[in-house]
Amino acid sequence: IDTASKFKVKDINLADWGRKEIKLAEAEMPGLMSLREEYRQSKPLAGARIAGCLHMTIQTAVLIETLIELGAEVTWSSCNIFSTQDHAAAAIAAANIPVYAWKGMNETEFDWCIEQTLTAFEGGKPLNMILDDGGDLTNMVLDRYPELVKDIKGLSEETTTGVHRLQEREENGTLPMPAINVNDSVTKSKFDNKYGCKESLVDAIRRATDVMMAGKVALVAGYGDVGKGSAASLRGAGARVIVTEIDPICALQAAMDGFEVKKMDNAVEEADIIVTTTGNKDIVVGRHFEKMKDKTIVCNIGHFDNEIDVSWLNANATKTEIKPQVDLYDLKGKEIILLAEGRLVNLGCATGHPSFVMSNSFTNQTLAQLELWNNTDAYENKVYMLPKHLDEKVARLHLSKIGVELDVLSKDQAEYIGVTPEGPYKPEYYRY
Ligand code: NAI
Repeated sequence: IDTASKFKVKDINLADWGRKEIKLAEAEMPGLMSLREEYRQSKPLAGARIAGCLHMTIQTAVLIETLIELGAEVTWSSCNIFSTQDHAAAAIAAANIPVYAWKGMNETEFDWCIEQTLTAFEGGKPLNMILDDGGDLTNMVLDRYPELVKDIKGLSEETTTGVHRLQEREENGTLPMPAINVNDSVTKSKFDNKYGCKESLVDAIRRATDVMMAGKVALVAGYGDVGKGSAASLRGAGARVIVTEIDPICALQAAMDGFEVKKMDNAVEEADIIVTTTGNKDIVVGRHFEKMKDKTIVCNIGHFDNEIDVSWLNANATKTEIKPQVDLYDLKGKEIILLAEGRLVNLGCATGHPSFVMSNSFTNQTLAQLELWNNTDAYENKVYMLPKHLDEKVARLHLSKIGVELDVLSKDQAEYIGVTPEGPYKPEYYRY
């Protein structure tokens, strides 16, 4: 292969550092490592040409190398302009894996990077599998390169927002291939979205601002999985947390978890730190900025940058960059601190979720790719979820690393609750 043209990263000299951190991450990613063990010989992904578009971090590097160890050819781009860890991208490039990702690219470069991954396989062959996070790669292929669709066996999608896009396509009849919704595996959304954000949100705010969290008033918009983790993160750091919601069930959960629940319009003036987690748009807009206190920190941890009206700020305030991904806006005498330009803050200002929780997510991703590649004919052009026994398998693979002992059902007990001793242990409608 002409490796010279097969990657674009910030600095290839960061590869050694990246490799050392990848080694550390492997030890924290038992799910992926045991899939390597299980499938190293049989190479069930042989022939698969997977184009991936997912935050190019150290954890993602372990996913990429797992897919390759299972026999796939892989090309990669990052699904956010700020989320690449340059040493991770360099290590992947140095391993001769086509990767197009660097922290702080612009929107044009973002599209260019995704485009490169479509045909960067050996011999210039095009992709035949999609692994996506947020749907930008999927949309690129379906809307701009429809001629590539016929060879693609399926796609797996990582996040809530990307799954919404796929469901719209299924409803409109514009989904031309089977898709697996990885997000809604229990071992993904109830772990990565929740426990991941629980660790990575405050980490990001601290790295960006070094502000004292204890005693501050934090406002979290949305109390879904990401909102639950975010509110817990801020509470854990000693902040007093207020939640906003539009769903009565989630609002009741927030209240009974001990959070004050208010309307954004009423809470915004009390807040020192505001975090949007809704996956919806127009959550923090001009009238909210006008009411905020001086030096309010505003950030978003949802997938896209349309939760906070950054264009209003750019039009109505003067911007000074404090450091990359931290901007101060002067708004007629008071100042607002905006993190990561309103893009997902835990990847923009910190390094995303820790390896252990990402191992759960990425073990689901790998199982989804295995399933779509090997059992293609079992799937129609719809959005599917992995079966519960695989969800339970993902969890099981992560127990011993953290010293969990699992009790085992006797045959008699299993019969009594209507399951088998090997599982699945819960009906489909169980919510965890
Ligand atoms: P979710 O659907 O579980 O939660 C979103 C919540 O926001 C819902 O409870 C909804 O009722 C609420 N909401 C919607 N509009 C609202 C409004 N106007 N005001 C207040 N609340 C409102 O979704 P989940 O899984 O929590 O994901 C949220 C976003 O975070 C998505 O964009 C997802 O893709 C992204 N995500 C980001 C991660 C990260 O590491 N930064 C990790 C996982 C997901």
